[in-house]
Amino acid sequence: MNYYYITGTSRGIGKAFAEHLLENPSNNVIGISRQRSINHPNYRHYNLDLTDVDLIADFKFELHTNAKKIYLINNAGSLGFIKPVGKLDASIIIKNYTLNLIAPSVLTNSFINCYDTTDAEKVIVNMSSGAGKTPIDGWAVYCASKAGIDMFSRVVDEEQKIRAQHPSSNIHKGFKIFSIAPGVVNTDMQNEIRKASKDDFSRLENFIEYKVSNQLLEPATISRKYFNILENVTGIKDVLSSLKDYE
Ligand SMILES: NC(=O)c1ccc[n+]([C@@H]2O[C@H](COP(=O)([O-])OP(=O)(O)OC[C@H]3O[C@@H](n4cnc5c(N)ncnc54)[C@H](OP(=O)(O)O)[C@@H]3O)[C@@H](O)[C@H]2O)c1
Repeated sequence: MNYYYITGTSRGIGKAFAEHLLENPSNNVIGISRQRSINHPNYRHYNLDLTDVDLIADFKFELHTNAKKIYLINNAGSLGFIKPVGKLDASIIIKNYTLNLIAPSVLTNSFINCYDTTDAEKVIVNMSSGAGKTPIDGWAVYCASKAGIDMFSRVVDEEQKIRAQHPSSNIHKGFKIFSIAPGVVNTDMQNEIRKASKDDFSRLENFIEYKVSNQLLEPATISRKYFNILENVTGIKDVLSSLKDYE
């Protein structure tokens, strides 16, 4: 059996990916989000608010003794409010970093700790974004948290490579980690972007144009692309990439 822990399964990319995986009866999905929108015999849900640091720290992965594959997909994310620094609410800054950066970091730590001696294929996928590489006004916390998750992923990858050189490392398989950007996807996140005030966000017209001219990719298309790439993780060359790199 295969086990996929996915955050943010109530809508958007996370929901589409979970539904795609559930088409195969060998796959089990354990979803985490504040709302539940999937009902399937192989789906289990944790109603968790990933801005609550105590809940994140307490989350326990289960030992799956029959597992062939165990994946953690840190997908849940939010832009928070689109406003320039100086006009942001302190509590929103804190919650947004917690959701986008602290939650995936803490879950990755627990995941590696839990499955360290498990002999399955173990993969962590973080949702990267072009916003982690390019400054976008009004998105400071989002850009910084995506840059942070990219570097976090690179460090974990480095640690796993160093560990693989250790003589005792043959006993158990190590972990693979990737931070992959999806491109611009037709989800609620894009709805939120289009609702921003022009005064707070210079690129508002560009994002309205993406929608009007049908440039947004559908979550089902994106999730199929993630699935195809993750079917052969040995073919993924870099920790950081974008779905566009595989076209
Ligand atoms: N859409 C794009 O164009 C785009 C581009 C680049 C990167 N991304 C990244 O892709 C990922 C998914 O984005 P999306 O567009 O699919 O977003 P979305 O449609 O807004 O869905 C976000 C998901 O995250 C969950 N979530 C939000 N706040 C949460 C909280 N406090 N606790 C637990 N779960 C929470 C939501 O569930 P609940 O509300 O039920 O909790 C929902 O399932 C994000 O990491 C995003 O940064 C998206």
